[in-house]
Amino acid sequence: MTEELDTAWVRSRFPALDPALALFDNAGGSVPARDVVDRARAYLDREMVQLGASYPRSRRATELFEAGLTAGADLVAGAQGEIVLGASTTANLSLLARAMVPLVGPGDEIVVTDLDHEANRGAWLRLATQRGATVRTWRVDRETHELTEGGLLAVLSPRTKVVCFTHCSNVVGSLHDVRTFADRIHDAGALACVDGVAFAPHRRVDVRALGVDAYALSLYKVYGPHLGLLWVSPSLLPRLENQNHFFHAGSGTTALMPGSASHELVAAIPGVTAYLRSLDAHHGGAGTLESAFEHIARHEEALARRLLSFLRGHPRVRLIGRADASAAHRVPTITFTVEGTKSAAIPSALDERGIGIRFGHFYAPHTVEAFGLEPDDGVVRVSMVHYNTRAEVDRLVAALDEALGG
Ligand SMILES: Cc1ncc(COP(=O)(O)O)c(C=O)c1O
Repeated sequence: MTEELDTAWVRSRFPALDPALALFDNAGGSVPARDVVDRARAYLDREMVQLGASYPRSRRATELFEAGLTAGADLVAGAQGEIVLGASTTANLSLLARAMVPLVGPGDEIVVTDLDHEANRGAWLRLATQRGATVRTWRVDRETHELTEGGLLAVLSPRTKVVCFTHCSNVVGSLHDVRTFADRIHDAGALACVDGVAFAPHRRVDVRALGVDAYALSLYKVYGPHLGLLWVSPSLLPRLENQNHFFHAGSGTTALMPGSASHELVAAIPGVTAYLRSLDAHHGGAGTLESAFEHIARHEEALARRLLSFLRGHPRVRLIGRADASAAHRVPTITFTVEGTKSAAIPSALDERGIGIRFGHFYAPHTVEAFGLEPDDGVVRVSMVHYNTRAEVDRLVAALDEALGG
C-alpha cells in the first residue's frame, strides 16, 4: 500500500479545483468529486421522471434514488432505512427537533453546548421553548477548547431527555470521544444527537460504533451534492412524530422527508462513496472506506503539521485549539487570531494571491464568545481537506508571513 497520498491523482478527480486558487475554505464546503458531478448530470440528462410508477423509466429513476440512500448509509456504516436526506443539516436537525415534540415535556431538560454550530442549538432551544423544557449548556473547556466528560456529567440529570453535541467543532477541529459521551448520556436515560458535519469529510463515520441516536452530516462538505444526511437509530425512528403527509405516518424515514429530497442530487450520492473507494484502490488498498479515510487522515496530518509549526512560531499569532497536528486528536481545521490586527483584514490580504481563507464566527457565535473573542470579528480559519497539497500550504505560509510581518 502506498504511504504518500497521490495528490495529482486526487486533484484530477475534482474538476472544480484550480491551480490558481489554493482553497482553504473547505469546512464551509468542499468541491464535488467528478463522479458526483457526472451522476447528477446524467440523471438530469437522461433519467429524470417521477419516481414510483410501474413504467421502466420510472422504475430506473426509483432505483437511482434508492442507490443514493444506500450510498448515504454506506458512508456512515448504517442501513438504508435509517437515512434521512434533506436540504441541509440545519433543515434536518430542525425537522428532527420537531419530530421529537412528543418525547419532551414541561420540566424536562435539553442539553446543548457552546461549542456547537447553531444548527445543533437553535432547533433544540425552540423545542425547549415550545414544550416548556429547560435548556442546560454543556460548556467548552476554556483551556483546551474541547468538550469534556466532566462538563457533560455536570449538566446531566434524571430530567435530561436529549443531549446535542458536536463530534468535531467547525471552529477548532478537535475530535471528541463520542462513544464515551454517548454511553454517559444513555446511563442518564437520555438521547445523544451528534453533529458530525465537521468530522465526516476527514474520518470514517461508523454510527453503530459511536453508539448515538442521531447523527447529522452535510454531503456538500464530503465531496458530494448540496444535501444534508441525517442518520436515525432504529430504536429512535418509530418514536418520532410524522413530519410528512398523514398517510406517511409509520413509514420509517419517509415520515422525516416531507416532499422528498432533490432527486438529481440524491442520484449523485453514490459518486461520493465511489470516489473514496477509488482513492483507496489507487493507493493499493482493497477499496474500502475505512482504508480511504486512513490515507486521508495521514495526508491531512502532514498538512496540519506544516501550518501549525508556522503559526506556533509566529510571535503575533494566538492559536485557538490544539497546537499538535495528530490525526488522532484533530482534523486540519486550524484557527487563530493575530495580535494587533482584525481577523477581517487577514483573508482579504490573501485574496489576490490566490489563497481562499475566511474569518468570522462560522455560525458558532457562542463558541467564539466562549473563547473570549468578539463574534463579529471572530477568528481566522484555514480549513484543509485531503485534496490540498503541501505546496499550497507552503504558499499559504509564505503569504501569511508576508501579510503578518515578524
Ligand atoms: C459543524 C457544522 N454543523 C452544522 C452546519 C450546518 O450545515 P448546513 O449548511 O448543511 O445546514 C455546519 C455548516 O457549516 C457546520 O460546520
